[in-house]
Amino acid sequence: MVSDTNPDPTLYMDYNATTPLAAEVKADIADSLHRHWANPSSTHPPGRSARRVLEEARSHVAAAIGAQPEHVIFTSGGTEANNMVVRGSLEFYRATGRRGTPHLIISDTEHDAVEAPVADLQRRRLCSVTRLPCRAGGRVSVSELRAALSPDTCLVSVMHANNETGVVNDIEAIGRALSESPHRQHIWFHTDSAQTVGKLSVDVGRLGVDFLTVVGHKLYGPRIAALWASALGLTRGADGSACITLLRGGGQEGGVRPGTEITPLVRGLGTACRLVQQGLERDRQHMERLRNLLERRLLETGVAESINLRDSPRLPNTCSAVLSGRRSGREVLLRCRRLLASVGSACHETPVASAGDCETASTVVTGAREPRAETQKTSGDVGSEGVSAGLCGAPDGARGVGGLSGVLLRSGVSPKDARRTVRLSLGRTSSEQDVLDAVEDLRQALREAGEEQEDAA
Ligand SMILES: Cc1ncc(COP(=O)(O)O)c(C=O)c1O
Repeated sequence: MVSDTNPDPTLYMDYNATTPLAAEVKADIADSLHRHWANPSSTHPPGRSARRVLEEARSHVAAAIGAQPEHVIFTSGGTEANNMVVRGSLEFYRATGRRGTPHLIISDTEHDAVEAPVADLQRRRLCSVTRLPCRAGGRVSVSELRAALSPDTCLVSVMHANNETGVVNDIEAIGRALSESPHRQHIWFHTDSAQTVGKLSVDVGRLGVDFLTVVGHKLYGPRIAALWASALGLTRGADGSACITLLRGGGQEGGVRPGTEITPLVRGLGTACRLVQQGLERDRQHMERLRNLLERRLLETGVAESINLRDSPRLPNTCSAVLSGRRSGREVLLRCRRLLASVGSACHETPVASAGDCETASTVVTGAREPRAETQKTSGDVGSEGVSAGLCGAPDGARGVGGLSGVLLRSGVSPKDARRTVRLSLGRTSSEQDVLDAVEDLRQALREAGEEQEDAA
């Protein structure tokens, strides 16, 4: 089910890519488009009214992550928020009086909104980078992270949960490890929480982070985002501006992120955060029950051969399933009548008719280049390491390797399984019937593709 008002015949199971706007969010945005059009920085009554709306939204965002409202900064999206942290970390390095080469640590399964700006800085030889391998269950190892720290480390960025596999990193344990480091005050700790706010309990204090990214369109809100920053995260550089400031302009958002705020969308983000916080435990249990049912049915019916990373801590709504047979996940999904989902091995540029090419390409390329797994510091040109031609990925970002999902490969999934993987992500309005219908749709699609399943039930 897509929304309360849309009797859509499709079966939407792509909530990790984006979520529909909640009815209350839509109503609040529409109301503010009419009523709160004034500039929130204006001091006249309509401006002050827009300002109140903005600040109320800020407190809803803050409450959803256990934070103080003053440290919540509205941004255009998760991509901007993550770029602010990554690029700002080089300013932070200088602001802390260090004069060598800044060192950044990220996981090797980060979303492109972290991976790409890091790769850009690395390519321009502005920093060295350690990408921590996630081969063991799709997660960062805390001891490997500890071993990677150096006096030049200025940023550790590890996503809270992966959008493709749903695997949840132990951010709290990483936070504890960092707090034991003598260099803690010289290290920014960021987590991209795009996939966890609204699905898991998120609390910045408990996680021990300096930055946390909240993305509206993953939690039934609009396509804007918020970045929460600790006092350390708001460190100022030599010119007096916050190290995370990317754009230069007016004094909005405490001078950290200039540009007149889009009051109606900010209000929508606040409402969305309030709603997910209110319904968190109910929604979490509901999605987990359905996800477990989905995985059981996929395996019982023989539609899926296995579930990727099932033994790792995972988001309650995400199922990364390896389909039975020889067909690629993409090919099977395209044959589905109602189901809308993503593949872990999306190859947008390979037509389905030549899906075999995808396999050939992946065999060649992955044979030539192992999934990225270095723990060594590398600096300068990433060469063929980070970016390849013909990038493939889920719509919500995933560097592909030869038509296969780099995230899956680097999480320890074999190329054969990665090719047959589909990602089914559920939402708070998904129903049991949706789950049963989705499995049936996949079963039909496999049958039409000439794949017979043995019913294991
Ligand atoms: C984990 C993660 N980080 C960041 C983003 C990017 O957010 P946005 O689309 O708001 O730029 C997404 C969404 O695609 C995501 O899933």
